[in-house]
Amino acid sequence: MADKRKILKTMTSKVDVIFSASELSDGKVEGKAVVVVDVLRATSVMVTALNNGANKVLPVLSPTEAFEYKQGNGEKIILAGERNADRIDGFDYGNSPWEMKPEVISGAILVMTTTNGTLAIRGADKASDLFVASFLNAEATALALSDHKEIVLIGSGTNGEFSLEDTLCTGYLVDLLIKANDDILLSDAALASRQLYLSVENDMWLLASNGRHYQILKEKGRAEDLNYCFRKNEVPIVCKRVGDFICSV
Ligand code: MLT
Repeated sequence: MADKRKILKTMTSKVDVIFSASELSDGKVEGKAVVVVDVLRATSVMVTALNNGANKVLPVLSPTEAFEYKQGNGEKIILAGERNADRIDGFDYGNSPWEMKPEVISGAILVMTTTNGTLAIRGADKASDLFVASFLNAEATALALSDHKEIVLIGSGTNGEFSLEDTLCTGYLVDLLIKANDDILLSDAALASRQLYLSVENDMWLLASNGRHYQILKEKGRAEDLNYCFRKNEVPIVCKRVGDFICSV
């Protein structure tokens, strides 16, 4: 018994996974390092925009909040996001990473609202440290987590439900964390998402392409977004909350 207590005491990190923004509560994230993932497409867009020179990203909950921020601030502000995967009326851009070209985004504040991704980010307000990740910057993010004792990986999910692509990405992050440090305690949810990822590691495609949101984006002609968002570690940046914003740190 004494030995077991000692093992738990010296355990360097605990990792948990949450499968949807709707499962979030302050208690689950308070004081913890949190990583929000929305592979299709919100966090892939944020990571790309910051890599292409955006100054910072402000995640907001509604189009009204976005318009108000733009009105009240004089800097170069770009509004992007979606409802039902389409651009919001009056916004500059939709929710495609291909829209975040350096010549468009460089030096800008990107204000974003999306159905699931920005909801998950804002739902994790109480986290002590909040990172935004996707397959594009998974390795860089896992490295940045190495000093954290309590880590919660949040798959934003789709409309309040589990999504394959986000769970594959949280599973990949768990796998990276455990390969870097095997002295980690995984929750059942973390074990399950890692196992799902490992079962299709070399052919994520086969499984992910059956996903509900994947199919919707395919029907909307977003094949380029789908191809891009599953690329691993193309963007070696860490995206972290600083004040109200997500910045490349
Ligand atoms: C979201 O946050 O719900 C997504 O990014 C939706 C989308 O693919 O546009």
